Parts: sequence; structure tokens; C-alpha cells
Amino acid sequence: MAKVLVTGGAGFIGTAVVRQLLGEGEQVVNLDKLTYAGSNPPLGALAEGGRYTLEVADIADAAAVARIFAQHRPDAVMHLAAESHVDRSIDGPADFIQTNLVGTFTLLEAARRYWGALEGAGKARFRFHLISTDEVFGSLAEGEEADENARYQPNSPYAASKAGADHLARAWHRTYGLPVIATNCSNNYGPWQFPEKLIPLMILNALDGKKLPVYGQGSNVRDWLYVGDHAAALTLALRQGRIGETYNIAGREQHPNIAIVKMICAILDEALPRSPLRPHEKLIEFVTDRPGHDLRYAVDDSKIRRELQWQPKETLASGLKKTVHWYLDNRDWWEKIRSGVYRGERLGKVR
Ligand SMILES: NC(=O)c1ccc[n+]([C@@H]2O[C@H](COP(=O)([O-])OP(=O)(O)OC[C@H]3O[C@@H](n4cnc5c(N)ncnc54)[C@H](O)[C@@H]3O)[C@@H](O)[C@H]2O)c1
Repeated sequence: MAKVLVTGGAGFIGTAVVRQLLGEGEQVVNLDKLTYAGSNPPLGALAEGGRYTLEVADIADAAAVARIFAQHRPDAVMHLAAESHVDRSIDGPADFIQTNLVGTFTLLEAARRYWGALEGAGKARFRFHLISTDEVFGSLAEGEEADENARYQPNSPYAASKAGADHLARAWHRTYGLPVIATNCSNNYGPWQFPEKLIPLMILNALDGKKLPVYGQGSNVRDWLYVGDHAAALTLALRQGRIGETYNIAGREQHPNIAIVKMICAILDEALPRSPLRPHEKLIEFVTDRPGHDLRYAVDDSKIRRELQWQPKETLASGLKKTVHWYLDNRDWWEKIRSGVYRGERLGKVR
């Protein structure tokens, strides 16, 4: 049984990764600062048996991170902690530089010292897994797909900070030999996603009878992957990925934003046949585009499918249906957020 130090394990993808690891019988230490995005949902029976520990700390706090490594002695690190919302990175890039760059640097340094002092099987087993995004490859033309060797062309402060973190991890591997594995994934959706992101925002606004604000003409294309499929890909890459390699992960579900919003409306129409808000599509409103909004992200994920035999279980249709029903069934969670820390206001408009 391995002990995995997960950073950002109280966030959207992190919580799916923690569940995946606990479900696979591993031990988990979750290092999370519990920012506004860290909702830290209850783990129920999965957390029983002393296999789960939460350490509330900042990844940029070198003393705290060193103490956590020394105390818990992990076999691997899965690094997800980040400031993750593009619109917030436009309004306030400093937090993104601090967490995504300085924080990743701090974690890499702590991992390097800890791993450097390991010996034998423990040293051979250790991995540092950096979880990144397809946004580092920038906006692609119709028909283009970025493979793992594509040029980095980040356009938002968020994407640039993630690209920088990717470069740091690569350098820590090439220079110091730290056993790094990196993955770059497309847009995730599913349970526990903070309601500022496109899919939950649209579901919750539609339920409230509020406008569904679609940026520009809704023509920006993203690839979508169900979060549980991403979590499964991540633990597979951690165990079987080759050291020093990068793996793209995608759902192979590339759609313009307007198509996603219309799908959500159709699922709600079907789920709520007596709602006076039907058809929910009439709530769609086109609003001023996000500054520097990338038109299209698309990654070629044939390497992980070929080498590690990974493939997603959900299609967009099945995953989106599950997600809409999850938000319908979990009002307690999102109503608290919508009445407090984030009320659905427009972010990231400044140029
Ligand atoms: N959401 C996506 O579609 C997507 C796609 C590809 C890659 N990613 C990457 O996956 C990772 C997780 O994304 P997410 O959507 O779950 O993000 P999220 O914003 O939902 O969660 C981030 C978590 O990190 C924690 N955190 C933030 N700053 C911290 C700090 N300084 N120290 C410790 N913890 C801190 C937060 O409390 C939160 O729990 C990120 O690295 C992101 O770049 C996300």
C-alpha cells in the first residue's frame, strides 16, 4: 500500500483523486490551503480506518511543506493545488503567480530534498506527478491537435502560470533527476465543481431562472472530460507512466460552448417537466467576450490511450446527464456557496 501526498485534494479534481486513491486502497495525505475553491466535501466511509489525513497549509510555505514531507513520508506526490479560474487570473494575476509558480517551486524543492535522502526501494518508488492543463498549448486552429511535443503558447495569466509550473517540473527532472511524471488534461466537469466554472454556473443559473451568460457568440471550442475519468487516468499515469514523460488526457468531446449550454438546457427540460422555466434555452444571453479568449483547445491523447490503455467511461452525453442530476440532488452544497462566497457575478472583464 502506498501513501500519496495529494495537493489541492479539497478542490474539484483533487476530491475525485482522493476518492479514487482511497477506493484503490491507498493512504492519502491531503495538503490544501482551503481557499474559496476548496470545498473539502465529506469522504464518508472512504476516510475510515485512518487512511486519510488533511493538512491545512499553503504549498508556498516552505517550512510547512518540509514538515509535512518529514512527518508523513509519502511514496508519491500528486500536485493539483492551484489557482484555477481563468477569469480570476485576469482580475488578479498575483495569486496565480504565487500559488502556481512559487508554490510549485516550493513543493519541487521540498520533494527534491526528501527524495534525495531516500534510499533503496523507497527512492526507486518515489514519483512527483504534476497535474496540468491543455491551456498551456494556447488557441489552436480548426482541425489542429496539440500532442505532448507541441509548442507552449499560453495566453491567459492562468495558462502562463501553469506553463511555468510545467517547465519547472521538467527542469527539476532534467537537472536534479527528480522522478517527475506530468499530465495535461482538457476541461473537466462533474460533481463538486465550484459554481464559477461554465457547466455548474449554467446549471445553477438555469435552476434559479437567471440568465445564462455565454461569452461572445459561444463559438469557443473546448474538449470535455468527466472528472472521474480524469482521476482514473491520473492514478494510472502515476503507477504506470514513464519517468520524465508527459501524457495528454482528453475526452475526445470537442464542442463549442453554446452546444454545451444547449445540452444542459435540454437535460434540465427533461428532468424538470413541470418547470415554468422550460424551455431553459430561452435564458441564454450572449455577453461581451472574455479578453484574450482562446478560440479552441484540443489535445491529441493517443499516447496515454496507446501506452497505458486508458480510455474514459463516460461520453459527454452520459457524464453531463450525471452531472446535472448531481447538482439537482446536492442543493445543500451549492446553495451555501451561492449565498456566500460566490454569487454568480461576472469576473474577468477588465482589459
Ligand atoms: N478544472 C479543469 O478543467 C482542469 C483541467 C486540467 C487541469 N486542471 C488542473 O487540475 C488542478 C485542480 O484543478 P481544479 O479544477 O480541481 O481546481 P480547484 O480550484 O477546484 O481546486 C484547487 C484546490 O487547490 C487548493 N489550493 C489553492 N491554492 C493553494 C495553496 N497555495 N496551497 C495549498 N492548496 C491550495 C484550493 O483550496 C482547492 O482545494 C489544477 O492544477 C488545474 O490547473 C484543471
